[in-house]
Amino acid sequence: MLRKELGRRLFRHSLGVASMAHRLAGAHGLDQEAAVVAGIWHDYGKAFTPEELREKARAMNLELDEITRLSPPLLHAPVGAALLKQEIGLKDEWILRAVKFHTTGAAGLNGLEKIIYLADAIEVGRRYPGVLSLRHLAMKDVDAALRVVVDNSLQIVLQKGDLLHPDSVAFRNELIMTTRRG
Ligand SMILES: [Fe+2]
Ligand SMILES: [Fe+2]
Repeated sequence: MLRKELGRRLFRHSLGVASMAHRLAGAHGLDQEAAVVAGIWHDYGKAFTPEELREKARAMNLELDEITRLSPPLLHAPVGAALLKQEIGLKDEWILRAVKFHTTGAAGLNGLEKIIYLADAIEVGRRYPGVLSLRHLAMKDVDAALRVVVDNSLQIVLQKGDLLHPDSVAFRNELIMTTRRG
């Protein structure tokens, strides 16, 4: 069903995220089954256009902040999570939160939420300079890998002149502060 909704390319990406999340969860003592479920479904919102997502958010009375509403790349995460709950019947709040925050990140994310964010950026289908060493680093130190991945993704947002979500800034600051405190 998901393959039909997402199309071949995005479905392969979702399997890649599930598989990477499974490996990361294993390496860091987290729930591997939850990691696979969250990984498979994380981009469910991408089955819909931004207009459809805004419409569905309205129909579900889902409150979206202004920046998310005006940023097509951000919309699919929180609306996708809400749709998984309402339409697919996925009830596990910790999995839904991992889906909700996989694009912006946020301060105070737990281990599972962090590895879904990370797996999205380093799954085997991703090809960019440095991705191999990032995969290596991620197995040893999730926060160190996240610092690189978050900076990369914020740089892309800035290059595009796009809106920067405050949750992403809070996520980055928290990662840096954690390192400085030691
Ligand atoms: Fe996504
Ligand atoms: Fe993704």
